[in-house]
Amino acid sequence: MLTVAVLISGTGSNLRALLEAARHPDFPARVVVVGADREADGLAHAEEFGIPSFTVPWHLHESREHWGEEVGRQLDVWKPDLVVLSGLMRLLPPSLVAAYSPRLINTHPAYLPEFPGAHGVRDALAAGAAETGASVIVVDDGVDTGPILAQERVPIVEGDTEHTLHERIKPVERRLLIDVVRRIATGELALSSAS
Ligand code: GRF
Repeated sequence: MLTVAVLISGTGSNLRALLEAARHPDFPARVVVVGADREADGLAHAEEFGIPSFTVPWHLHESREHWGEEVGRQLDVWKPDLVVLSGLMRLLPPSLVAAYSPRLINTHPAYLPEFPGAHGVRDALAAGAAETGASVIVVDDGVDTGPILAQERVPIVEGDTEHTLHERIKPVERRLLIDVVRRIATGELALSSAS
């Protein structure tokens, strides 16, 4: 059974989808812990599913490195086989990336390498693109530059706002994430720094 830690910042809807998938006896992975960089609303999903959680508040740490060391200490308690960044709005310090990558994956609401960074949905709209997408990647030291594990196109429609477009992308992100975690767990998908 693949053990998974999930790190979040927000509402955790992708986390919730993974928790729901992992509750099925046939699913080959289990979420063992959820971590957040703030009092994220999504921590409520962990509580509801009886999954332990931790918070390492970003603002209480003097540097990214110090914050990352504490996140690493918390993760090491659980020794997860895989760490999923699911809406974590922070870059991890290189020391933490080195400790977990390539067993460290991220979901992103754009068709990478198009529109990397914190505002992937907004940037796709601003560029006047006809379509964008969702991606699941291995985290490396860049901003959304790691090897792509899965991705799918999502059309942009007339009248889309950042909110409506993001809400259409998220179900695709969830489906891709659950499938990637399943394939990693079964060994169908091998993780390497150059997947
Ligand atoms: C996802 O689109 C994620 O890729 C992005 O933020 C969203 C997280 O949403 N960076 P949620 O917290 O899972 O609802």
